[in-house]
Amino acid sequence: DLVPVILAGGSGTRLWPVSRTAFPKHLVELLGEESLLQTTARRTLKLAGPGRILTVAAAGQAVLVRRQLRALDPALAQGLMLEPEPRNTAAAVALAAFRAARDLGPQSLLWVCPSDHLMLATSALMEAVAAGLRAAAGGRIVTFGIAPSRAETGFGWIARGESLGDAGVFDVRRFVEKPPRAEAQAMLEDGGYLWNSGMFLMRADTFLEELGRLASEIHEATARAFAALDADGEIAEPALYGAIPSAPVDKAVMERTDRIAVVPCDPRWSDVGSWHALWELMDKDAQENAVAGEALLQDASRNLVRSEHRLVALAGVQDLAVIETADAILVADRANSEAVRGIVAQLAAAG
Ligand code: GDD
Ligand code: MG
Repeated sequence: DLVPVILAGGSGTRLWPVSRTAFPKHLVELLGEESLLQTTARRTLKLAGPGRILTVAAAGQAVLVRRQLRALDPALAQGLMLEPEPRNTAAAVALAAFRAARDLGPQSLLWVCPSDHLMLATSALMEAVAAGLRAAAGGRIVTFGIAPSRAETGFGWIARGESLGDAGVFDVRRFVEKPPRAEAQAMLEDGGYLWNSGMFLMRADTFLEELGRLASEIHEATARAFAALDADGEIAEPALYGAIPSAPVDKAVMERTDRIAVVPCDPRWSDVGSWHALWELMDKDAQENAVAGEALLQDASRNLVRSEHRLVALAGVQDLAVIETADAILVADRANSEAVRGIVAQLAAAG
């Protein structure tokens, strides 16, 4: 039986002004009536009972996260673990691994899932997970690889190696987290690389062993914080969590371990990392405008419009993202997500 681990502590700054530190991307109803966290939890419910699913989230978002999980299934709230402050994903995965090892046994199989991705082809995902089960049970850290379509510098890249025997499971020659542009371009052209989808399948003890070997300070500090985890999923001594070195699991473990494997798959995955990525996924009109909320369009094409409160009208413009919320309006070049990140940086600098 799997133990799904949902990572729900990120911020998603390129989706400002809808995604905020206090109201991040995975809690927003971006497409339809469910948040990405809820869609993720629903996906994991296909492979595990609600009482087994662990969610690691920010203590500051506990009320909203708990409400969203309970709306799907009240038992989902039992597996909620709250971080007093974010320490990135190595710590979050380790916290869940310690808990699964204690409650369900060291060999329990973790299925780590980011909370802010979309996968439109659930059956392809389920097949990929099934393909990786035996390798994970045998002590491998299984990743799920997506065929790359651009020289993306915001993802991890996986060099696929020889077949490991099981159908669809391959060794990994190299894992490169967030490469510079030129290296990403070279890997795209090479053709032997896949994007890391951000999901992992592995035994709790495999992960903890590798973390202990490759990033022992994170292992030890998270073990101390885990000892202070109370029955409500809170860390009774928050300073213990704050003391954990902050690092992404991809850098702390995946780039360095030799126990990694990959299952290439096409679950129609998107990390919904920007307004542009969202536009690509949304239904569009004949002029390729994607509209959520109330909008009037005249001679407008290829725009993304989202209005939460007011009527938004676009006349004679192309390729914009126009995002209206209660306290802020964004008008941006749809494809320029880095500029939106710049706005968020300006806001942060202004306090
Ligand atoms: N609990 C918790 N605590 N969750 C966190 C934290 C944290 O401190 N930081 C991030 N997360 C969650 C995010 O909400 C997201 O669901 C997931 O962990 C991954 O974190 P991101 O910060 O979004 O990572 P990334 O997008 O830069 O990179 C990862 O995902 C890419 C695919 O989208 C890496 O795994 C890359 O290799 C991968 O290609
Ligand atoms: Mg991400």
